[in-house]
Amino acid sequence: ANERESMYLVSAFAQQYFEDILWRSEPGKAIGHSYFKERGFTDETIKKFGLGYSLDEWEAFTKHALQQGYQLEFLEKTGLTIVKDQADGGKKTFDRFKGRVMFPIHSMSGRVLGFGGRILVNDKKAAKYLNSPESDIYHKSKVLYGIYFAKQAIAKEDNCYLVEGYTDVIQMHQRGVENVVSSSGTALTPEQIRLINRLTKNITVLFDGDAAGLRASLRGIDLILEQGMNVKVCTFPEGEDPDSFAKNNSYGDVVLYLEEHSMDFIQFKTSLLAKEAANDPIKRAETIRDIVHSVAKIPDRIKQEVYIQECARMLQVSEAVLYDTLAQITRKGI
Ligand code: CTP
Ligand code: MN
Ligand code: MN
Ligand code: MN
Ligand code: MN
Repeated sequence: ANERESMYLVSAFAQQYFEDILWRSEPGKAIGHSYFKERGFTDETIKKFGLGYSLDEWEAFTKHALQQGYQLEFLEKTGLTIVKDQADGGKKTFDRFKGRVMFPIHSMSGRVLGFGGRILVNDKKAAKYLNSPESDIYHKSKVLYGIYFAKQAIAKEDNCYLVEGYTDVIQMHQRGVENVVSSSGTALTPEQIRLINRLTKNITVLFDGDAAGLRASLRGIDLILEQGMNVKVCTFPEGEDPDSFAKNNSYGDVVLYLEEHSMDFIQFKTSLLAKEAANDPIKRAETIRDIVHSVAKIPDRIKQEVYIQECARMLQVSEAVLYDTLAQITRKGI
């Protein structure tokens, strides 16, 4: 088999191993499984997403994999094992993931490409999530967490909810909202949007109720528009994310919240920026330019026109001014 195939095999083996550790080993049950339970995940959900646990030991996984005949070369290439050269010319191996709950990352067709591993107790010194490195089978910019489990629902609902993290996808899914994926830590890329574009033209961006979430959603919007897709935005109450919201509310309440708080992007940007700009004419002008910039990214002329009309109404400026601005921006290509 070729190299990539060997890397897929190692990844599938690792997924099964971490899952077995979670369900069968004492630390897996006591630490890993209890962690997921505390987060409100059911056994069914834990199994569906193939969640696991990595032992808090230096090379428990690597040793086991080598014993089972997997080659160090592919353990290293998938990033599951870290190999360090020693002063005496020998090599030392370590497991990348130690004492973390494990989230396997699947391709559109369900193959395991890599992992996210979360520490159990928040600690400022350690990164909360550790992820597999970029590799020949795991291209972060081309993968969406949850796409394998969400693709049917995305097509059926003709809409895709885009969230920030692993647990947001899983909790929403468990609550019954299955058309959810996440860019998982990386800023949204055009390739990720194209994956969704194959299934639906409609994306609703659900970002965390914090400043970082808001900034991320503004950047994402323009990228989605450039692909000619329709984008809505839904924000959550301060301090909440889709995970906490879905955990604490019924299916009906989640669906109702999404319906009532999903805003067209013009409404979203306008309400956000208008608050800051209120009575300051210079900021107001900046705001208008900013929104027209987004409109300029839309490839469809008719859609642009609809947005210009709505924008004029909401910002209480003339359509003529907005068309002038749009023409300027388009001409300069900025
Ligand atoms: N992330 C990461 N590395 C970090 C922090 C975050 O890769 N050190 C990614 C993860 O995919 C995470 C996502 O960014 O799921 C969103 O980050 P955040 O909102 O901080 O985490 P949550 O998903 O809310 O995680 P949790 O609820 O487990 O705290
Ligand atoms: Mn490649
Ligand atoms: Mn966040
Ligand atoms: Mn979050
Ligand atoms: Mn969270």
